[in-house]
Amino acid sequence: MQDKILDISKRRGIIYPSFEIYGGLAGFYDYGPVGKRIKENVENLIREFYVIDEGFMEVECPTLSPEEVWVASGHIENFADLMTECKKCGAPYRADHLVEAHLKKAVDGLGIKELEALIEKEKISCPKCKGELDKIYNYNLMFQTSVGPGKEKKTSYLRPETAQTTYLAFRRLWEIGRKKLPLGVLQIGRSFRNEISPRQGVIRLREFNQAEIQIFVDPDEKDTEEFKNVSKIKVRILDKNDKESDTSLGDAVKKGVIKSRLIAYHLGRALQLFEAMGIDPKRLKLRQHRDEERAFYSTDTWDVEFQSGDFGRVELVGISDRTDYDLKAHQDLSGQSMEVNIDGKKFIPHVIEIAYGVDRPVYCVIESCYAEDDRGTYFKFPKRTAPYQAAVFPLVNKDKIPEKAREIFNSLKQARIFALYDKGGSIGRRYARADEIGIPSCITIDYDTLEDGTVTVRDRDSKKQERVKIEELSKRIL
Ligand code: GAP
Repeated sequence: MQDKILDISKRRGIIYPSFEIYGGLAGFYDYGPVGKRIKENVENLIREFYVIDEGFMEVECPTLSPEEVWVASGHIENFADLMTECKKCGAPYRADHLVEAHLKKAVDGLGIKELEALIEKEKISCPKCKGELDKIYNYNLMFQTSVGPGKEKKTSYLRPETAQTTYLAFRRLWEIGRKKLPLGVLQIGRSFRNEISPRQGVIRLREFNQAEIQIFVDPDEKDTEEFKNVSKIKVRILDKNDKESDTSLGDAVKKGVIKSRLIAYHLGRALQLFEAMGIDPKRLKLRQHRDEERAFYSTDTWDVEFQSGDFGRVELVGISDRTDYDLKAHQDLSGQSMEVNIDGKKFIPHVIEIAYGVDRPVYCVIESCYAEDDRGTYFKFPKRTAPYQAAVFPLVNKDKIPEKAREIFNSLKQARIFALYDKGGSIGRRYARADEIGIPSCITIDYDTLEDGTVTVRDRDSKKQERVKIEELSKRIL
């Protein structure tokens, strides 16, 4: 299926490799005109869930930051993957991925010694030339650069996560939020990681998009009454002891599999959000990080994973209890207090982080919505993620029909509806083109339109056609 999706993606302007005329560069992809619309819709859904529903704030910070930020956060010391190279041809590999591919099972959280022992025991060699693999070492994933000229030059890094840049302004956000906890802050933006050998399309990029939410909380109040609204959601759960079960979030909390109702609530919200985007809920699973696998800053981490037909398990969002690790670290290095005072109780807030990628969910929406039938291939995008809400077709290019079609197209534009105007080829051909990029409704303007002010609206999934009054069109297709 990957080949078919890739073919449509390139041909119809969804996603395609960047810098193609210069031979491309692994880990960089462009969103074409259709893909950009889908990505924008996915980001807007995230915004709605957290800014409108949860009442969180949204900020935007620079992608480049000075060295101190990453010294304090621990990324300079710890943000590394385990790398090995082929002694013969020099090809670089992420050691855990190499072992996983060989064993055909996950090896999350193994250290250098364990991975080297497995490589020796399993006689794993370079997949390209069968050469011997070199010693494994820590490879820092951050891109380094410098800001400013001459003596002013300052070592800087492209951010590997948006989270840190949100923490830096905590004092200001605390004031703006009128000194109340919990305080939720969303940031959607680019992050950069010099991934060792990105080969899985947009699943592993070197420049990618994140939508990360930092919820600053009182450490004694890591709870929410809202949990009741998601407690009935059923899902497959794999806990840190490798126990797997199908259960409701309510039971998972009751049995102590998920310890915090706050984390369980946000796992439930993430599942609701993915379903609203169009991701198949039956292919989603909650997975708790094992103790040895968890990031250096976290005490408990849960991922929502998607089972992809093409790429295996794909982590879409990570929800972590980052404690006061980050605020404390920035307080220590900057000398600026991150302490709050609520009715005489002084403390550094803890952070519950909800770290969404954007590119992976976009891909999983595309994979989930891919469909084939007698008409060929099409995408069943929900209205909210579809690149355009409607396509407008004049039946013929004469007899005042194009003028009427343009008039209707312009009225949709005025209603701020993303619509596509297509006058080329037979109506059947135009339906096929619209289906191929997942447009939910096609509107045909014909001779009856001139007589009675109605148009034909054809539904993408059922292929059913209906006559609709022009005045009711916007309501009908939204
Ligand atoms: N602030 C925490 C953090 O960055 P993460 O699990 O490393 O956590 C969060 O990243 C999300 O960002 C992931 O769940 C994934 O969706 C996305 N992501 C991470 N690395 C990526 C990459 N190289 N390419 C595409 N998306 C990536």
